[in-house]
Amino acid sequence: MSDLIIGNTQVSTDEALAAQFPTDFLWGAATSSYQIEGATREDGRGPSIWDRFAATPGKIYQGDTGDIAVDHYHLMEQDVALMAELGLKAYRFSISWPRILPTGTGTVNQRGLDFYSRLVDNLLAKNIRPLVTLYHWDLPTALEDRGGWLNRETAYAFADYAEIVARHLGDRVEHWITHNEPWCAAYLGYGNGLHAPGIKDEQSAINAGHNLLLSHGLALPRLRSVLKDSAKIGIAPNLFPTYAMDEAPETAARVEHELDFRNRWFLDPLFKGHYPEHFFANMKCQAPDIREGDLALISAPIDFLGINYYNPVRVGVVQTENAQGEPQIISDILPNPSDAVITEMNWEVYPQGLSDLFAWLKQNYAEVPAILITENGSAFNDELDENGHVADTQRTQYLQGHIAAIGRSLTQGTSAPVIGYCAWSLMDNFEWAEGYNKRFGLVYVDYATQKRTIKDSGRWYASFLSL
Ligand code: NOJ
Repeated sequence: MSDLIIGNTQVSTDEALAAQFPTDFLWGAATSSYQIEGATREDGRGPSIWDRFAATPGKIYQGDTGDIAVDHYHLMEQDVALMAELGLKAYRFSISWPRILPTGTGTVNQRGLDFYSRLVDNLLAKNIRPLVTLYHWDLPTALEDRGGWLNRETAYAFADYAEIVARHLGDRVEHWITHNEPWCAAYLGYGNGLHAPGIKDEQSAINAGHNLLLSHGLALPRLRSVLKDSAKIGIAPNLFPTYAMDEAPETAARVEHELDFRNRWFLDPLFKGHYPEHFFANMKCQAPDIREGDLALISAPIDFLGINYYNPVRVGVVQTENAQGEPQIISDILPNPSDAVITEMNWEVYPQGLSDLFAWLKQNYAEVPAILITENGSAFNDELDENGHVADTQRTQYLQGHIAAIGRSLTQGTSAPVIGYCAWSLMDNFEWAEGYNKRFGLVYVDYATQKRTIKDSGRWYASFLSL
């Protein structure tokens, strides 16, 4: 079947859309260890900063924790069967550092390695490619107690940990992601304290950011030394297309600052070997402790850039008040457009943002060899009806819209090659500070019974992947 012609308009059918992607495209879904596994005290796992943070009153919506999460640690085989039912070609998951090294360094916990080894075997048995993330925020508390990402030693510990995991899974795993959203680990963890470890100090965020980047740089040669030559290594920052909504010079300047803060803070060291000019001063901070050789390590070539994309940032003039209560006009981040679809996270749905982001990357980072969409998804108020259905039409539209945006960029050649797409998330799970209150899954989870039900969006994705 080809495109539908309605009036003079050519409407892409799912088939026409699917045809825009290479046959070996990695169609997948993503999760992370702390958000799904539970079993936080089992089989020798050590504590992580998220166990501690979630146990601290007032940090998480309704005091939710990841202690049980969606019990994936025990339901892993069933969950892989679900992935196969969805027809996934790839599954992105993260390794819990404290399962492998309960105190962050030193003694290796074989039962932790065995769990991920079984997961990988189960995936491969169903022809699902494992995409491994080494750090999705669950730092062992033993390392946090020595300063966490504020301590340079943590970067060296990460490189050791990365090599251990690669030695055990490298014979079967081809795609490796060092860090998930280092901006969040640095800024939400150490800058505004919304995430573990809950430190509120922008200088600390800058310092943590450097050690996160350094850990990536130190891990790269260690991974390459034990992985097959065919292995592909990348990192997965969250990135934001950022728009000036008016012509004011202050708006243009604010856009530049947002681009520095949200995108270039990590992209420039990774691809250009330096931090954005004036960034630290604009943040009213000092430069972090950058030692000789750090930036060369950090900017060593990678094989793909992972991108987590959810929503755009719009900047424009707004009227506020100064400290004296007098009206003043400044350029700031604007509220969501009134005509936009907004998710339960209060994030604007804007698929074109992904195409614009690709184009911006192509223009500014010719060094990016390939792109893997490591996350893209939406939280909506899903309900399981009496017939056992979740009619999440908005999520299906979100997926279709973003997949179409990728297709457009590929067809128009306005992007580096895109090698895969992972929907966030495979199933509903622990949404960090929002606890279980926000559902992102293609699969609905009844938290009382742990019963999984494929939502309509999951059914759509499965039918799309079967084309
Ligand atoms: C980014 C994070 O990597 C993931 O853990 C989180 O659940 C989603 N975005 C949604 O907020």
